[in-house]
Amino acid sequence: MSFNLQFSETHEMIRETARQFAREEVAPSSIERDKNGEFPTEIIKKLGEMGAMGMMVSTEWGGAGLDAMSYVIAMEEVSAVDASVGVVMSVNNSLVCWGLETYGTDEQKDKWLRPLASGQIHGAFCLSEPEAGSDATSQSTNAVKVDGGWVLNGTKNWITNGTTASTYLVMAQTNRELRHKGITCFIIDRNAPGFEPGLKEDKLGIRSSDTCSIGLTNVFVPDDQILGGVGMGFKIAMESLNGGRIGIAAQALGIAKGATEAAIKYSTERKAFGKPIADLQAIQLKLADMATRLEAARMLTYRAAYLKDQHQNYIKAAAQAKLFASQTAVHNALEAIQVHGGYGYVREYLVERYLRDAKITEIYEGTSEIQHIVIARELIKEL
Ligand code: CAA
Repeated sequence: MSFNLQFSETHEMIRETARQFAREEVAPSSIERDKNGEFPTEIIKKLGEMGAMGMMVSTEWGGAGLDAMSYVIAMEEVSAVDASVGVVMSVNNSLVCWGLETYGTDEQKDKWLRPLASGQIHGAFCLSEPEAGSDATSQSTNAVKVDGGWVLNGTKNWITNGTTASTYLVMAQTNRELRHKGITCFIIDRNAPGFEPGLKEDKLGIRSSDTCSIGLTNVFVPDDQILGGVGMGFKIAMESLNGGRIGIAAQALGIAKGATEAAIKYSTERKAFGKPIADLQAIQLKLADMATRLEAARMLTYRAAYLKDQHQNYIKAAAQAKLFASQTAVHNALEAIQVHGGYGYVREYLVERYLRDAKITEIYEGTSEIQHIVIARELIKEL
């Protein structure tokens, strides 16, 4: 498997634009939004206008028509400043737009993908349930066939963008006997009667993004709001998550980058024993280790995006990137706090937020334990 890491002028331009946007538009309000748990409404609107909410969707359907590498670059830069903004972008791009573009009919794309990809609205992906997280095939939400459509009942959990989205992709069992092959994906509008997003979760990190449970009580969904056909839901979910894991790897990469850069900068400013702490070997060991892990995470993440762009199998590469980049984000955030000493432990300095934001990247879109399973299964298949 070859990996040719060459950035085009477009990639360089996207990096510069995303970096500038993150610095000028995202950074100023990030501490306040984290404190108040305030959704970045205006920032998401601007990202939509820039094409960042449907980066890989073709221009025909309102997207930016870019590749996965461009998406990873933008995610890294935005998440280096604010991972909450990163996850809103990631879910809309990878878990909502991708499925609609790949499996939607032209009518569905026109009605839902176009506004989602152009950032007029954003979406949410509803797979997890109170009793079905890692064990995603054990869906309890059920859909019963009625004249002209289906009636859904159940509860979805941990839904990113849950309180603010307009469109939801919801997995439900349409034939329990078929297990995962009986799961179907429904496109549901927020205002559907019986569809009730709950209260926002009070989270440790990514506090500016919104996460909630969603109750479905006798929600009627017309037949033409099934995505990809009856029984295709689990396949759509798994394939969406393969791409989603590249997005979360890029989010984790961004957090690791932000934490590492903050540690390097602080170490040149802070003095101890008569010199900047960057001159102390104890600190140099940390900085060198953080930077090396960061580059390794970057290479894995870029490689996964490269394979996706080359239409090669990227399941294992995406899981490896997410596994390693999320571990790197947690490690580098912890080390950044250590380099900052007591200042790293207070909210005034951003580094404590990097740690709080990093932890979720080891959990959502498949825990690290699930990534190990995915990697091992792919290794065995490759034999
Ligand atoms: N890509 C494509 N297909 C896959 C796949 C993958 N990565 N993983 C499994 N499949 C397919 C299998 O090939 C199989 O299909 P066939 O029957 O046609 O052969 C089918 O899915 C079932 O697979 P298994 O028999 O292996 O099922 P399992 O129950 O043993 O394991 C699992 C499945 C891999 C553990 C899966 O349940 C899983 O990925 N769990 C984690 C779920 C997850 O990531 N949730 C994240 C929630 S969403 C979220 O966090 C979004 C957010 O808001 C930020």
